[in-house]
Formats: sequence, C-alpha cells, structure tokens
Amino acid sequence: MEGAGGLGRYRLLAAGYDVLSGERPLYRVGRLAGTTALAPAPGDRVLVLGCGTGMDLPLLCPAVGPRGRVVGVDASPAMLRRAARRVERNRWEGVRLLRADATTVAPADLRAALGEPGAPAAADAVLFTYSLSLMRPWRAAWATALACARPGARVVLVDLGLPHGWARPLARAACALGGSDVRARPWTAVRADLVDVSAREFRGGHVQVHAGRVPEG
Ligand SMILES: C[S@@+](CC[C@H](N)C(=O)[O-])C[C@H]1O[C@@H](n2cnc3c(N)ncnc32)[C@H](O)[C@@H]1O
Repeated sequence: MEGAGGLGRYRLLAAGYDVLSGERPLYRVGRLAGTTALAPAPGDRVLVLGCGTGMDLPLLCPAVGPRGRVVGVDASPAMLRRAARRVERNRWEGVRLLRADATTVAPADLRAALGEPGAPAAADAVLFTYSLSLMRPWRAAWATALACARPGARVVLVDLGLPHGWARPLARAACALGGSDVRARPWTAVRADLVDVSAREFRGGHVQVHAGRVPEG
C-alpha cells in the first residue's frame, strides 16, 4: 500500500519526520489550534485519520484519559511503527493504531476499533492534521470520517493552503515534499457538511484550521 498514491515517501521520511516536517518553526501552531477546537474530553472516542507518527497523541491521550479511546489510522506502516513506539513509551491506555487507507477502509472496521468487542461505537470527535489533502480522492476520506462520527460529533481539519505573498514558492515546495495537494482546499467540505463551523488561519494563510459539528437529527 505504501507504494501507491505517493505514500512510498513516508517510508523514507518516517525516521526523521518529527523534525523534518517543520513542526516547531511552522506547523505546531495549527496542531495546537486544531486540538483546542477538537476539545477532547474524558471518556471521548477520538478518530485520527492520517495519524502519522502520532504527533497529535500527546494532546489527545491525556485529555480523553483511561476511559477514552483514540484510534489512529494511517496507510504507512513506517509512520505507524513510530506512532506505536510513542504510545509504548508514554504508556497511554486506550490507543489503537490501524493500518488502512482512509479513502477505502470500511467505516464498520473503524467503528469496531472505536468500540469494544461486539459493540462498535461512533466517534465523538474526528481529527485530520496535515493529512486530508494527501488522501486521494480526499472526498472519499472525508466521507469515511462522517460515516464514523456520531450526530453532534466535532470534526476538525488542519491542512495546508498557499500563503499570501513572498512565502508562496516555499509553501509549494513544502507541500510537494510532503505530498500534499495544495490546490485541494478540502476545508470547503467543512462549511458544506457541518454546522457551528469556525475557521482560523496562520502563517499568512498557509496553515488552515477548520472545525464544525456533524448535524443532529
Ligand atoms: C504529512 S503526514 C501528517 C501526519 C500527522 N497527522 C501529523 O500531523 O504529523 C500525512 C500522513 O497521512 C498519511 N496518509 C496519506 N494518505 C493516506 C490515506 N489515503 N489513508 C491513510 N493515511 C494516509 C501518510 O502516510 C502520512 O503519515
């Protein structure tokens, strides 16, 4: 699966991803704003699509606590191995990591992972950080997210756009390196499909954070 859809790059990037991704100088601000908007609470079931090496987990696992559940999904075994090591090091309970393509995985499989044996469950919150614009077609992964979320669930998308001004070429290069389709603008789906939406942008529009809730009833 890693060879398909440009994912082979993550086999190569996984070892240095946490540093090479530009987290500290550029992208942490979006992760913090995204997880704040997600507002994970004790006991929540959180689905993270394209979880990578698990950089969101320190912001999610302590918040949902031992009664909660965090399910991380990624297509790259190399990225997932890093995430698994992070979970082991921190002894977080209630985390499940799944290798799957978010555009084709059966929502029933994710609901099974969110629940208990014989009792599948829907997500209280769904998070994409810097991942949806890599998934092709991204609308299929978005549909997976909505199919796994309960009515009223919070859905947050942190993704990349083209900044205004001089940093455009640099942003294009960063997106090309990571495999993100900078023209995708997947946050258009947030306004179309969710309610109570909010949006923030950072780094001159390069970092986009969009949030909303699945309509009830
Ligand atoms: C730029 S990384 C972001 C990782 C993590 N969310 C973060 O914020 O550090 C994008 C991740 O999306 C994963 N990915 C890309 N396409 C995918 C797909 N169709 N299904 C599942 N994961 C995918 C990649 O393997 C990679 O780990």
